[in-house]
Amino acid sequence: MAMQGGNQPLTVTNLNGEAGPAVVAPLLSVCDLSIRAGSLELVRGVSFDLQPGTMTALVGESGSGKSLMAQAILGLLDREVYAVTGSDLRFQGSRLGFDGNRLPKGFRGQLTGYVMQDPSSALDPTMTVGRQIAEMFVVHRGMDMRSALKEAARMLDFVRIPNAASRIGDYPHQFSGGMKQRVLIAMAVALSPRLLIADEPTTALDVTVQAEILALIEDLRVQLDMAVLIITHDFGVVYQCADRVMVMYAGKLVEGGETLQITENGRHPYTRGLIASIPDLDDLDRPVVAIPGQPPRPESSWIDSCAFHPRCAWKAERCLAEAPDMEQLDGGDIVRCFEWPRVVADARP
Ligand SMILES: Nc1ncnc2c1ncn2[C@@H]1O[C@H](COP(=O)(O)OP(=O)(O)OP(=O)(O)O)[C@@H](O)[C@H]1O
Ligand SMILES: [Mg+2]
Repeated sequence: MAMQGGNQPLTVTNLNGEAGPAVVAPLLSVCDLSIRAGSLELVRGVSFDLQPGTMTALVGESGSGKSLMAQAILGLLDREVYAVTGSDLRFQGSRLGFDGNRLPKGFRGQLTGYVMQDPSSALDPTMTVGRQIAEMFVVHRGMDMRSALKEAARMLDFVRIPNAASRIGDYPHQFSGGMKQRVLIAMAVALSPRLLIADEPTTALDVTVQAEILALIEDLRVQLDMAVLIITHDFGVVYQCADRVMVMYAGKLVEGGETLQITENGRHPYTRGLIASIPDLDDLDRPVVAIPGQPPRPESSWIDSCAFHPRCAWKAERCLAEAPDMEQLDGGDIVRCFEWPRVVADARP
């Protein structure tokens, strides 16, 4: 399928030729993505679609493979260290492949924007913030530096940095943590990408600044009509802004669906555990319960069992003997648990 230019999401009409609503094709389709480092299986069989213009949260504890998955999709993993495989990877309908060599021109920057997990290493301390943003316009749009700096000031204003025009000559150390995060977001969205992947964009920030950054990302999503994949270990982020949620555990997706479904009626015991471990401000009587135990280390082999079974209150004999496959349910929900009907039944009042 040919790439669509500009900022238009790919739309296909009813394939039967019938009159009816246009079907919007996924912006990103990932099928069976796996990542290995030597003998370690770090990400296993991940499949999902992202629809244009939507906000999806990828949630999971530290070490579950969230950042690796994002970097693999963007073709950023070092192939000398990581083997990335899968059956299909498509962006706007075009096949990208998993070797990182077939990415269309401008894939990173113009079509996709990336806010990496560690903001301190993402900005060059020796270069002014304005120049770092301006480089995006010089490299990708062929602008001269003077015009690019004007665009950089416009972008700083766009991400709500006060007195933007007077800040473009400042260096990163002159910005607070929240402001640096805004600068990184400005760089990621400078060229109006179709997809923004933001990896833990609020983790190192205090609660008020976290809320401001999330509100900014949500505003940008609407204004630029871009899809957002926000990576987090915090279900609070999910509640605040996501349309859909994917939950990852030990390198595999274990559940996915619309936010309301997942937060109110999650089927996987791990999802239930993550939600129970955060305070509910609307129901302060609800006890906060941490998930017992630790996630498995990547060198553990869980091929013959469910990786979550050592921590699971619903485990049955089968969970120790077999790894559950992903089940596709009505309405596009997915869940990887043999016992989910029992989990749902137990949660009924
Ligand atoms: N080259 C490597 N060799 C061995 N293990 C690795 C390598 N690279 C990553 N890992 C491991 O892979 C796992 C997944 O890493 P990843 O950074 O994707 O986790 P994450 O879900 O983003 O966690 P966090 O929430 O802490 O950012 C981690 O346990 C990490 O230690
Ligand atoms: Mg990470």
